[in-house]
Amino acid sequence: MEPREFFIEDRLERYRLHAFCNMGESGLSHFTMEEMLTLANLTWKDLSPIPMYDAPNQGSFELRCSIANLYPGVSPEEVLVTTGTGEALFLAFHLLVKPKTKLALIWPAFQALYEIPKMLGGEVIQVPYENAFLANTWEKVHADLYVINHPHNPTGQTHSLAEWDKLLTFFRSQKKTILFDEHYRFLPKGGGLGRTGVCPEDRFYGTGSFTKCFGVTGLRVGWLIADKDFIRRARSFKDYLTHTVNPISERIAQGLLSQKERFLPEIQKRVQNNIDTFTSVWQTLPMSLSFTPPEGGLVGWLQLKPRIRSEDYADRLYQRTGVFVLPGSNFEMEGFLRIGFGAKEDVFLKGLKRWIECTDLI
Ligand SMILES: Cc1ncc(COP(=O)(O)O)c(C=O)c1O
Repeated sequence: MEPREFFIEDRLERYRLHAFCNMGESGLSHFTMEEMLTLANLTWKDLSPIPMYDAPNQGSFELRCSIANLYPGVSPEEVLVTTGTGEALFLAFHLLVKPKTKLALIWPAFQALYEIPKMLGGEVIQVPYENAFLANTWEKVHADLYVINHPHNPTGQTHSLAEWDKLLTFFRSQKKTILFDEHYRFLPKGGGLGRTGVCPEDRFYGTGSFTKCFGVTGLRVGWLIADKDFIRRARSFKDYLTHTVNPISERIAQGLLSQKERFLPEIQKRVQNNIDTFTSVWQTLPMSLSFTPPEGGLVGWLQLKPRIRSEDYADRLYQRTGVFVLPGSNFEMEGFLRIGFGAKEDVFLKGLKRWIECTDLI
């Protein structure tokens, strides 16, 4: 059993550190260690006494409390700290997906959300994003497991409040098992903390992290939220994988979560400014056809005029301007580009200017 190549990674590896303007990434541009410690209100002195033993297998109690506090009614026993959201998804899918399990998800999707289930023999039902944010769409989809990634990567869309309530009521009445991937929850449009669908007692499980939203992806901390029995099984599975998250990352993670009200509004403002700038000029970008501003998160989905290969577009754009975007083909959907909004505002503006001026791009 082996998953196919992870399509976005080749380009990300090649360009993320060299691009003049990185709009390929789905995370905020990274902070340095020093900046991160300032955000977390920690100093080197706070870190130096940390004992370098294995952290508790489930994650430190303090960190699990901070994570549980993000979810109404969730206790620290219902939290498993993982190495990134990727590991949390890997564990959850191994426990939930058997051969022929039907898994429905919004399409296009972050590849790990369907590639691992497919590797396990699951049958993937693609729910096109155009209708996926309407509750009654899901009433017609018959699956064993529903994966709801919101705000959604790559489109940046999410449900309106009315549709959201309807959707949860429907799932609850049908006693469905849901996995909410809420990686971008810290960046809802309008600020604050985005809504969650997680409710372990209803088998509404969740994966999450703050690393992309806070600009610290290198910290590699994520989590899984589920009922205690599910968490016990996932923890036991994790014992064979990464086993524990390193205690330095755990301590910094806890600091960042406890201080988020101090620094998150600034980040949210930056991302919204980039989205607003892009929204005001996307029609002047060569061969662009449509764009719906994201309702949350750090990415959006730009449609190109017909018959343009997204890889050709992304390659030429990078060669001519140093602006890095991901082609829709990396999400198995032609005719689109994924745009990331996490760059610093001045870099984003300069990149956009170069892009607009490149009128003979394609
Ligand atoms: C929707 C979604 N889920 C999960 C992940 C994996 O996140 P992590 O880097 O925390 O493993 C990503 C990364 O881009 C993502 O976009």
